[in-house]
Amino acid sequence: MSSTNVTLTTADKSVSLPLVEGSQGPSCIDIASIYRATGHFTFDPGFAATAACKSAITFIDGEKGVLLYRGYPIEQLAAKSRFLEVAYLLLEGELPTPAQMHAFEDQVTHHTMMHESLKHFLRGFHYDAHPMAMLAATVASLSAFYHDAENPEDPAQRKLAAIRLIAKMPTLAAAIYRYSIGWPVRYPRNNLEYVDRFVHMLFEVPSEPLAINPVVTKALDLLFILHADHEQNASASTVRLVGSTGANLYASVAAGITALWGPAHGGANEAVLKMLTEIGDAKNVDKAVARAKDKESGFRLMGFGHRVYKNFDPRAKIIRGMAHEVLEKLGVQDPLLDVALKLEEAALKDDYFISHKLYPNVDFYSGIIYKALKIPTNMFTVMFAIARTAGWVSQWIEQHEMPGGRIGRPRQVYVGAKPRDYQAIDQR
Ligand code: CMC
Repeated sequence: MSSTNVTLTTADKSVSLPLVEGSQGPSCIDIASIYRATGHFTFDPGFAATAACKSAITFIDGEKGVLLYRGYPIEQLAAKSRFLEVAYLLLEGELPTPAQMHAFEDQVTHHTMMHESLKHFLRGFHYDAHPMAMLAATVASLSAFYHDAENPEDPAQRKLAAIRLIAKMPTLAAAIYRYSIGWPVRYPRNNLEYVDRFVHMLFEVPSEPLAINPVVTKALDLLFILHADHEQNASASTVRLVGSTGANLYASVAAGITALWGPAHGGANEAVLKMLTEIGDAKNVDKAVARAKDKESGFRLMGFGHRVYKNFDPRAKIIRGMAHEVLEKLGVQDPLLDVALKLEEAALKDDYFISHKLYPNVDFYSGIIYKALKIPTNMFTVMFAIARTAGWVSQWIEQHEMPGGRIGRPRQVYVGAKPRDYQAIDQR
């Protein structure tokens, strides 16, 4: 895929570097030979201009607000597909035929049970442990239960582990939630589809049957589609970095979950709701915007800004519409939606936010929907993790299938002490 070369000249050396072209997006300068040729490393903290892999899964054009899964626009998938079909698409590269979809759904449905010992494992946590801590630990523990699907070198084992993770994530998430509130764990019901099965495991109580509102199903399915993958974000990159060492899928995804937890990444959905609650009233919005512009305050508008999107986040546009629809259809009056709308309006006409190209991202409105669906705030990032599992497992499998894989091993600019001699403690 390489075409022309670029020449890099340092004080005393010159090196010709090939350009790597993808099917879309900017070309990349292949710098792998730079150190050997010039004695220099490249420096790019935060990977602002560095592609760490080739991938055929997801494409983003941040300037135009474009997001494609396997070439399909997110808007079309959001309007016409459903989460499990999108998971298949991410994993297999093509939309399924009816027979393929049926087989995939059947496989996922028959891998939803969680090992009974996991219940004992959960009991080791204090009831108020953060659900993300419990999720990361339980997913890591899966590698202790499924030795038959741990070998990353075996394509069949890779696929089985991927199906298991997509299938079990809602079961684990619901069990974690119920454990934290002292409810008995519910088993997955095979007669329900993916999202309804999860809602059932989350909310069903022994005392009465649960009628699942289709508004809830539609909203969750849409949120899962929109969160399913986002190319080389921090958590997917973490999954790949861990995967590059030869670690199994459960261990790699457990690391991805911990990366997702941070408020700069998936933890932003929880942070947005806390922020909106703290702002409390639309009349306090201007003060919050002023604080976010003041670097000394250490406060940022959560749910605003994105490393890649510099125009708008297409997911946020869809979620914003869904937030209105869900609140209206469920008859929920949430003053936080007014605070969010006012905050968005104030920020979008503010010079600081305009010049810094800061727009609402996927996490800005999702919390308002989750809240309307009665999902507690500390479970928001777990919801994100359920959906992103489809992306993580697809990225991890692709990494193992793509030729030329190497262990991820960045270099550094060392800024520490120069060599010096050890002094005995009584001489310091
Ligand atoms: N509020 C106020 N100022 C901001 C914000 C914000 N939310 N985001 C970035 N800035 C400013 C930042 O202070 C900096 O200003 P200056 O150039 O004057 O020093 C400039 O914009 C660039 O910021 P950065 O931190 O270098 O940008 P980044 O690309 O490294 O970070 C980000 C992207 C998403 C981490 C950041 O915008 C942020 O912290 N946003 C709030 C957290 C958030 O909503 N995260 C969810 C991201 S989308 C979903 C996901 O990834 O899971």
